[in-house]
Amino acid sequence: MTNNFDTHEHDYSAPLGATGCNPGFQPGGPKRNEIRFVTIFALKAKIVTKHKIKNINKTQNYKQMKKPNVAFAYKWAGLLILASSILFIGGMNKLMSQPVSLTHQKNQVAMADSVPDLQNGLAKTPPMGWNSWNAFHTHITGKKIREIARAMVSSGMKAAGYKYIIIDDAWMDTTRDSHGRLRADPKRFPDGIKALANYIHSLGLKFGIYESAGTKTCAGYPGSLYHEKTDAETFAKWGVDYLKLDNCYNQGVGYIKRYAGMERALLATGRPIVFSICEWGIKDPYQWAPKISNLWRTTGDIQDNWNSVMMILTQQVGLNKYAGPGHWNDPDMLEVGNGVMTNTEYKAHFSLWAMLAAPLIAGNDLRHMTDTTREILTNRDVIAVDQDPAGIEGHRIADYGNEQIWVKPMADGSRAVILLNTGSKTTFMTTNAEQIGMKKAHSYRVRNLWTHRSHISDDLIRSWVPSHGVAMFRVWPNKH
Ligand code: GLA
Repeated sequence: MTNNFDTHEHDYSAPLGATGCNPGFQPGGPKRNEIRFVTIFALKAKIVTKHKIKNINKTQNYKQMKKPNVAFAYKWAGLLILASSILFIGGMNKLMSQPVSLTHQKNQVAMADSVPDLQNGLAKTPPMGWNSWNAFHTHITGKKIREIARAMVSSGMKAAGYKYIIIDDAWMDTTRDSHGRLRADPKRFPDGIKALANYIHSLGLKFGIYESAGTKTCAGYPGSLYHEKTDAETFAKWGVDYLKLDNCYNQGVGYIKRYAGMERALLATGRPIVFSICEWGIKDPYQWAPKISNLWRTTGDIQDNWNSVMMILTQQVGLNKYAGPGHWNDPDMLEVGNGVMTNTEYKAHFSLWAMLAAPLIAGNDLRHMTDTTREILTNRDVIAVDQDPAGIEGHRIADYGNEQIWVKPMADGSRAVILLNTGSKTTFMTTNAEQIGMKKAHSYRVRNLWTHRSHISDDLIRSWVPSHGVAMFRVWPNKH
């Protein structure tokens, strides 16, 4: 089992069998490289020393070899290792903190100009659906996915707007067929993928699949790099409506080359397929991915805990200008209902993802949801904020430490507002029409998107907000 950390453009791949990339994963591999370099250097020094001993052996009997000579050689090797490590660490820090990767990145972004625009007319609002990874990781079967699809309908999620059922990593066999085509794991998906897609379509839903723009998927199954045409054709033939393309085992091949390669192949099939890039935000994908894809991951993998949600949220600040109809920042799939966070935290997570115009891809076991989980995931007032046709991503307008205010301008002139309390105690929060950027009006209609009650206010928007929670409103200028 190897991993793939040595790439000339410092593109990092997750290790084989990894269960997801690190949250907050940074392109900071120097530590690994440092260790690797020092190890290589130490080995080299040892070889040099051994070589010396060998040469000495050639000219004189080993027994006669003077001990001080060996000690001398080791001492020099040791000193060399130390000096090189210091030099290398300094060098790596410099390397990672700018020039080379930036130049490379500029070239890559310029290269994006020669890539055709995706323009598949899809994802005019952020995609909504379900993905197998957060709840099941690699433990997926055709039977389970069918049950989930049925639950998507019977739970009311389909009616609330969820449409894609996406199978993530580990759906495939460990090898391609004799024609080089991907095939499903015969034990876990005995009917194959086409039959599964047909079934999902028969429920009025759409079907999504996972691959990697590398030689292997993160869990070690065959990857799509250098097989883009064949794989895109296979997906189209199976009736795939959505492709999530990961970043593992990328062999250091340029990111635009890899992702645009699949984009072209998808376009060539003529089938409308939502294209979701999962590059973990390493190479500022918002700079180049809007042209190539419908959505792009902006961070490492989400986890079912508050810190993870907050860390991802912070990483979204400033990215709102890159999103719009047909192309979305993707702060990763939802953890709502997976059992570790409190319902207050899940409500906040869901509200904030709607504020970010994020894809709402549920990641829980839809077959066994509590009523509260279902109520959170199907809250139509909050979903309407996410799915607003203007497609303007919300942004943070205030950060007072433990209290933040986020605002999203809506197509009808209203504004969605979140009062977020990241602290450990319930707190009273306030904002007003001017702060959220609304024109002066005689009064405002304020709807609480969690209690679903509206009231008229002359200016202030205020609420008690629980620890790790939000109050979420939509505010309209009141004409009367
Ligand atoms: C990566 C992705 C995850 C998931 C796993 C599957 O970590 O970021 O979302 O797809 O791979 O192995």
